[in-house]
Amino acid sequence: MAVSRRLFRFGRSLRTATAVYLSTLIPGETELIVVVEDPKRRNNPVVTIPVELMEVLAAAECVTVLTGAGVSAESGVPTFRDAQTGLWAKFSPEELATPRAFRRDPRLVWEWYEWRRILVAGALPNPAHLALAEMQNIFHRFHLITQNVDGLHQRAGSRNVIELHGNISRTKCSEEGTIISSCKDTGNIPPKCPSCGALLRPDVVWFEEPMPEMEMRQATDASTHCNVFFSIGTSTVVYPAASLPVEALRSGAMVVEINPQVTPFTAKARFALAGAAGVVLPELLKALKASRGT
Ligand code: APR
Repeated sequence: MAVSRRLFRFGRSLRTATAVYLSTLIPGETELIVVVEDPKRRNNPVVTIPVELMEVLAAAECVTVLTGAGVSAESGVPTFRDAQTGLWAKFSPEELATPRAFRRDPRLVWEWYEWRRILVAGALPNPAHLALAEMQNIFHRFHLITQNVDGLHQRAGSRNVIELHGNISRTKCSEEGTIISSCKDTGNIPPKCPSCGALLRPDVVWFEEPMPEMEMRQATDASTHCNVFFSIGTSTVVYPAASLPVEALRSGAMVVEINPQVTPFTAKARFALAGAAGVVLPELLKALKASRGT
């Protein structure tokens, strides 16, 4: 594996030792490019994007992006596997985001989502969301698939976002699955479905639940018909979303990962840009615009 240390700025500063350590974890052909903070260039980050990537992007008809919780981390939305805080510290998300947890203690699960809804409502799209929203205007075909339920891509201006795991702002009936846009506050927690009286729940995909068919079909199609596939801010441990970069690879796409950490997918990517999405993506966008003279 080749290690390049020619990317310079990364908020949390990956040092050379980290780069060497990371490289020992990646035995494949991946070129790992570590974004290292250069304090002298703090206001003017320089991120060198691999020339080969720029060449493939210049000719690309179709680009597909898969995002995960890491993309929203810089908006202050904690990643799914990050330690939870305050009242919720004693619960792991895996204990709260399942149909079983909802059956056992619907109030607890509802209140956890209510806490996350408030957190998300107060968050703003960050430079990574904004760069991806601009990228949709650069490529002939551009697909954005997200595992995030926070709606921040849409708030940044992205259109036709394929939401694999639902959206926390929507509520549905736990029995009929109908989306409920409003209901009378009767003091029940969770509230009850105005039509059948069953409990309401967030319209998100919990562990052990099937994926939404249409979104999964669209995501698979976008992943298997693209020239370049970006896997950004995802730990690639939750399936079936984690299979999308693998399918893109099998279909012949150049696959690029953007993540400050090594993931199970890193060694399969052509390039692994080890930096924060909010630093790498605006620089990639700048390079794309410069190469197209826009
Ligand atoms: N930029 C890019 N990546 C980042 C950043 C950042 N600023 N900060 C953290 N990351 C990376 C972490 O290194 C980690 O690999 O984001 C990833 C977040 O991983 P998870 O918390 O596992 O999130 P995700 O991959 O989206 O989880 C998938 O699991 O529980 C389900 O439905 C939930 O959608 C979620 C899914």
